[in-house]
This record gives sequence, structure tokens and C-alpha cells, in this order.
Amino acid sequence: MTIKNTAENYGSIAKWFHWLTAVFFLASYCTVYYRHWFTEEKTPENWIALQLHLSVGISIAVIVTLRIIWRVINRVPDLEPGTSLEHGMAHVGHYSLYAIMIIMPVTGYIGTGVDTEFYMLFDIPKFESTQLFTTIVSDGLGMTFKEFEKPVDFIHKDIMGVWVVWLLIAGHASAALYHQFVKKDRTLSKMTNGK
Ligand code: HEM
Ligand code: HEM
Repeated sequence: MTIKNTAENYGSIAKWFHWLTAVFFLASYCTVYYRHWFTEEKTPENWIALQLHLSVGISIAVIVTLRIIWRVINRVPDLEPGTSLEHGMAHVGHYSLYAIMIIMPVTGYIGTGVDTEFYMLFDIPKFESTQLFTTIVSDGLGMTFKEFEKPVDFIHKDIMGVWVVWLLIAGHASAALYHQFVKKDRTLSKMTNGK
């Protein structure tokens, strides 16, 4: 397996980025819904589940930054033969997935009113304590954190988290299975064993 992508296959680095992101997305949902469904407010478990959600989300931000740099300096494998509509949908799908990998960590971070205890190792200050918040939100928009947090949370949770993100990922994973079992082409193997 090569490190870089080729015309036929994703290389090992792109595969690591891809599957690591998939695991972290799953972890971001498990942590936040574990908190909602299985913990009582103001208990240590509730706090730890929240902190794990924040840490996982910030990890996704780091991974997607490195992933985008790697994609820019690397070729993308060719799509399998298909109609221009299918290819167009694949491109729109992939760019939308990149968009959620950026929008979710950003809205999560700027809309959270507590510091992130990054895997309990060190603290990352909340957005409200940063100079960027003072310059853009307090001085620029003239808003308090409470006023700013509301629409940002609405995007993070009610629009993206509850609907858009998982529907996009489900559509993407279903497309991969459609290629594997209906079209029987190499789409999934490009991202797995390369055969
Ligand atoms: C790709 C990354 C992320 C995904 C997929 C994600 C997804 C979600 C989802 C599904 C929810 C629950 C929505 C609901 O109320 O039903 C949520 C809530 C939340 N997220 Fe994220 N999130 C991500 C990153 C982040 C980051 C980086 C932070 C902050 C540093 C953050 C902070 C929060 C907070 C504070 C809540 C509310 C927690 C609660 O209601 O228990 N998220 N997120
Ligand atoms: C079970 C889950 C998943 C499966 C089976 C899967 C499968 C695949 C496959 C087969 C490809 C190659 C498509 C092609 O070259 O035409 C791909 C690419 C891609 N996947 Fe996934 N994926 C999954 C989860 C995810 C998740 C959770 C994300 C992000 C939130 C994601 C984002 C992407 C992106 C952005 C690409 C395009 C990569 C590029 O060209 O830079 N995938 N996926």
C-alpha cells in the first residue's frame, strides 16, 4: 500500500484520516447521547461525558485540518465509471462531508460556555475567554455570550447535529454499500484493501 493516493486507490494516510474521522464522529454521537440518556445532571458522569464530547469534537477539528492539507498536496483517486449525475452527486456529497467536519467543531467550540478539559490532560479556554470573542462578538457585534450562543447552538444541535450530519453520513455510507453490492465496482475497496 502506498502512502500517497494513486489514480486507483486512496493511500494509507488518506485511509487513516478517513476511518479515524468516522470513528470520532461515532464517538461524538455516543458521548453526547450517553450524557442525555444515561446520566443525571450535575453528576461526575454527566460532566465527563460532556468533556469527552468536547475533546472528541476538537480532535476532529485537528484531523480535518491535517486531512485538508494532505488532500490539497495529493491527487484524488479517479471515480469509478458512472453518469455525470452520479459523479456530480459524489462530488457534492464529499464536499458536504468536508463542510460538516468544519462546521460542527467550529459551532461546537464557539457556542460552548465552558473550557474543554482535553481528555483530562490540559485545558483549552472557552471561546468567550478569547481575544477573538471580545473583538468580533462583544465589540464588533455588540452581543453578550448568552445572545451569541443561542443561534450558534441552534445550528450545532437542532439543525446539524439532530438532522443534517447523520443523514449525510447515512447517505454516504449507503452510497458506498450500493457501489459494493449493486454496482459491484471498486469504490469501497479504494478506501479499504485496495483490491
Ligand atoms: C464533528 C464534531 C461534532 C459533532 C458531530 C457534534 C454533534 C453534537 C450533537 C449530535 C449534539 C446533541 C444534539 C442534541 O441536543 O440532540 C451536540 C451537542 C453539543 N455539542 Fe457537539 N458535536 C461536535 C463537536 C463539538 C465541539 C468541538 C464542541 C465544543 C468544544 C461541542 C459542544 C457541544 C455541546 C456543549 C453540546 C450540548 C451538550 C448537551 O446538550 O448535552 N461539540 N453535538
Ligand atoms: C461506515 C461509514 C463510511 C463508509 C462505508 C465510507 C466509505 C467511503 C468510501 C468508499 C469512500 C471513497 C469514495 C470514492 O472515492 O468515490 C469515501 C470517501 C469519503 N468519505 Fe467516507 N465512509 C464512511 C464514513 C465517513 C464519515 C463519517 C465521513 C465524514 C464525516 C466521511 C467522509 C468522506 C469524504 C470527505 C470522502 C472523500 C475523500 C476525498 O476524496 O478526499 N466518510 N468514504
